[in-house]
Amino acid sequence: MIDQKLIAAIDKRQSIRRYHREPVARTVVERLLAAAARAPSAHNRQPWRFVVLEDETSKQRLANAMGERLRADRAADGDEMSAIDADVSRSYSRITEAPLVIVVCANLGVMDHYPDRRRNEAEYLMAVQSTAMAVQNLLLAAQSEGLGACVMCGPLFCPDTVADVLCLPCEWKAQMLVTIGAAARRGSARPRLAPEEIVIWVSGDSLRLPGSRRSD
Ligand SMILES: Cc1cc2nc3c(=O)[nH]c(=O)nc-3n(C[C@H](O)[C@H](O)[C@H](O)COP(=O)(O)O)c2cc1C
Repeated sequence: MIDQKLIAAIDKRQSIRRYHREPVARTVVERLLAAAARAPSAHNRQPWRFVVLEDETSKQRLANAMGERLRADRAADGDEMSAIDADVSRSYSRITEAPLVIVVCANLGVMDHYPDRRRNEAEYLMAVQSTAMAVQNLLLAAQSEGLGACVMCGPLFCPDTVADVLCLPCEWKAQMLVTIGAAARRGSARPRLAPEEIVIWVSGDSLRLPGSRRSD
């Protein structure tokens, strides 16, 4: 039996980037984090770690530090100062104007360690994959609470900056942050690729590649 409510919730979710100012109640935040922590994880190691920022000062401190890093990177790229200013300012507002910001990290310390690089990279990726699954739970849980949310990948570009500002343990690697709050503006429906562009059906010894003219 298909759980139509679940499918409808997945279909309905959209990234929300503008929020009303009212804070998200602590009990709601706890429910969101509990839902995130129900995700599957490699070896069931549950490598996700969440740093919750609710107050203005901590959000501003993070946004400022990330903004300075962004400015330095773009200046090194030789970008126009006006474009850099606009980008930094947009990133700052997005973080500071969200009532709730959750920085999501992968704790590499709980994963297995091997003598070779190949398997260590696999463990690293498993930690990242598991953490991303927790974030999808978080997004859907936020929606079920009547809240909007959006992932921002900024921390991935400046993990050391984020670690410094938040005094993270050295094994915690910042992956992304999630802004959450009551939606002040609706999201927009972003297109998705068609099934034939993303799926290869394999049956027996026939392999149907996307765009293939084979009919068998
Ligand atoms: C790993 C990841 C990183 C993302 N980073 C950003 C970001 O930095 N800024 C942003 O506005 N949206 C970000 N998004 C949201 C995507 O833009 C969004 O999910 C995509 O356009 C599809 O739109 P939808 O979520 O409304 O369906 C990110 C999403 C993911 C999964």
